[in-house]
Amino acid sequence: MRSKEAKYIELVNNIKALTDGEDDLISKMSTVSCEVFHAFDEFNWVGFYRKTGERTLKVGPYQGGHGCLVIDFDRGVCGKCAREESVQVENDVAKLPYHIACSSETRSEIVLPVIRNGELVAVFDIDSPVPGLFDGTDEKYLKEITDLI
Ligand code: SME
Repeated sequence: MRSKEAKYIELVNNIKALTDGEDDLISKMSTVSCEVFHAFDEFNWVGFYRKTGERTLKVGPYQGGHGCLVIDFDRGVCGKCAREESVQVENDVAKLPYHIACSSETRSEIVLPVIRNGELVAVFDIDSPVPGLFDGTDEKYLKEITDLI
């Protein structure tokens, strides 16, 4: 079985090749959602919440099950990521009072800020039914991927 690191290296290279020269944000976010979702069987939701207002995030593009349409900056792990502009790793969301449960199966998640020209444009949310799935390896490579947006 290939290691998580080996899978990520291939994934980053694929995304670089697919998005090379593309400047459209939605096209790049769609490609990233698709490639990341299909790279790991353990992921049940992969996608973006875009900043559409002063303190508002709206869903999409994404792959996976249902995702709530609007998240205020005051709510959820995504809201915390947007407020603090910092990576959030949650390894047991059942214990988080502010977690927004779009799927009752989700147990762990990582959310990264997407910063373009110094401004937050979106957050990148990845969810999994596996508790404690995300570690420094995920953070390192997913950060590289958000930097390609
Ligand atoms: N995990 C998010 C909600 C969005 S969905 O899970 C797709 C949160 O608590 O911010």
